[in-house]
Amino acid sequence: MSRLSAEWTADIRDVLAHAGADVVIGDPAFATRFHAHFATLHGLFRALYGERDDSLEQLAAVIAAASTSWRARPARLKALDDERDADPDWFESSRMLGGVCYVDRYAGSLAGIREKIPYFQELGLTYLHLMPIFASPEGNSDGGYAVSSYRRVDPRVGTMDELAELAADLREAGISLVVDFIFNHTSNEHEWARKAVAGVPGFEDFYLIFPDRTMPDAYERTVREIFPDDHPGAFVQLDDGRWVWATFYHFQWDLNYANPAVFRAMAGEMLFLANQGVEVLRMDAVAFIWKRLGTPCESLPEAHLLLRAFNAVLRMAAPSLLFKSEAIVHPDEVVAYISPEECQLSYNPLQMALTWEALATRDARLLQQAIERRHALPPGTAWVNYVRSHDDIGWTFADEDASELGIHGYTHRRFLNDFFVGRFPGAFARGVPFQENPKTGDARVAGTTASLAGIEADDEGGVERVVLAHAIALSTGGIPLIYLGDEVAQLNDYGYLTDPAMADDSRWVHRPPHPTDRYRQRDDPATAAGQVYAQLTALIRARRDTPEFAGNALIGFDARHAAVLAYQRPGTDAASPRILVLANVGDHAATVAPPTLSGFGPHATDIVSGTALDLSEGITLAPHACKWVRVTPVA
Ligand code: GLC
Ligand code: GLC
Repeated sequence: MSRLSAEWTADIRDVLAHAGADVVIGDPAFATRFHAHFATLHGLFRALYGERDDSLEQLAAVIAAASTSWRARPARLKALDDERDADPDWFESSRMLGGVCYVDRYAGSLAGIREKIPYFQELGLTYLHLMPIFASPEGNSDGGYAVSSYRRVDPRVGTMDELAELAADLREAGISLVVDFIFNHTSNEHEWARKAVAGVPGFEDFYLIFPDRTMPDAYERTVREIFPDDHPGAFVQLDDGRWVWATFYHFQWDLNYANPAVFRAMAGEMLFLANQGVEVLRMDAVAFIWKRLGTPCESLPEAHLLLRAFNAVLRMAAPSLLFKSEAIVHPDEVVAYISPEECQLSYNPLQMALTWEALATRDARLLQQAIERRHALPPGTAWVNYVRSHDDIGWTFADEDASELGIHGYTHRRFLNDFFVGRFPGAFARGVPFQENPKTGDARVAGTTASLAGIEADDEGGVERVVLAHAIALSTGGIPLIYLGDEVAQLNDYGYLTDPAMADDSRWVHRPPHPTDRYRQRDDPATAAGQVYAQLTALIRARRDTPEFAGNALIGFDARHAAVLAYQRPGTDAASPRILVLANVGDHAATVAPPTLSGFGPHATDIVSGTALDLSEGITLAPHACKWVRVTPVA
């Protein structure tokens, strides 16, 4: 096989010949997009795999798979492609609202999820992330993040046909289906893993398997331990004595993306999922996909090239699909994954973590600084803002940002961990430690929003903190994402401790089954569920009707009060009305004084309650209160 030449035009004919030229030119729509994206894909392939003898052959196979996949793409999805093409900013609308749940825990099955569509509409969802639903090992499968087949749904929840039908039903209801693309690793039961261990030709290099400890020891000098409770370091030993790379659980083996056959194989799985009607792929663990000796093996430049290459393949064959990045890393690295050519969407772990930080410290300054400094994104992209996810909370703020405010990163993280697991005297939080590492002092925190915010501890600010945290996620810009059940204040579920497949993973404390009783209480103002639900749905309704909440533009605001987070969401121009968001993270009432508001005309409106405000009197916020106020700048 020839190598990819520097001049992509020179060997394009070879690639097309390999792919079977007619598959490419046969369909005009595909041909147009092929020509628009092939140069990019070729360049990325050359950068990643140019030195390998099989690079051209694998690139040709990717093109062939894309072309075949386009032909098989259902007409309704091609119509969706056109629709999105005509409205590329669709996901930046203020109507967007996400929900996330485990299929089995929340609804029993895919059929059960379909029955919940009326509820999703009641809540206002336009985006539904179903946690992993693919075939995976019995017992512990990391909540399905150990995938044994990307083409088979776990038979306990349904079938692939049902998933495709559900995607169509959801779309009919105005809801985009989001599923995980777990592409850093597979389970050890995946066919590729079995073949790799058995040395089946073509599969030997699908994973990173080493005969002895030499290379593992060398790599482990510079890589982090992600799940130290499961195994130290990044490798686990096979029965035959060899060692395989496993960043997460011992049964989750990292794929070897230095092998273009792995890229080709995963691109095929991605295209398959795209044709089931999935609209967003949540790109799991993006930071880990490329390894190089002597580095942390996280967020290496090649990780970005790989994502861009996957993206280019999609642009050819499933153009409406979006990528959402899951990078829970330093904020500089999080934004590096976000661009129209890479991941159009991304979790916002910094805002999430610092919302909790502000609630614990009753001091909004670190969150204020992050929102002013680290919120901006390139056009054509959006944050996914969440209060908590199915994972632990890690304190991913930048030490350099914190030190500007006189905060020491290491000791502050220790404080936050102590606070949120209830070890700090007087703490309102009832979280549980996750992956405490005695070697490094590192730890993360698990817990539901309600339990972390004080409802479990019967703290009087509990309900308001839950609402406040969501009010921030709903108003900074991007797609807000609710962990379903949190809108009715579900509490920690300690039942996982009695299930051996879950007991060692404290994240199960915040993945309770469907909280049916609390849902029944959602209209009862005497319950925490009812109070949270009423206030949260009022915010959701107000947001939907507020065009200033679309997009990502945000301007800071100095409320001159350490406990008050403040920012503005601009209108169409500098003179038009805008939304001023004020959030009091403190335990005492806080007043934003009249002179502080003097840049706005006196007549303002609280857009949630609809009441008029006179800014010449200042604005007083009750403890843990948030206000969304439409103000008009004075000329
Ligand atoms: C992601 C998932 C997490 C999982 C890990 C390994 O971080 O969110 O739940 O444990 O990937 O797949
Ligand atoms: C680590 C990883 C993150 C993952 C989490 C799961 O923090 O960086 O990707 O979600 O572990 O617990």
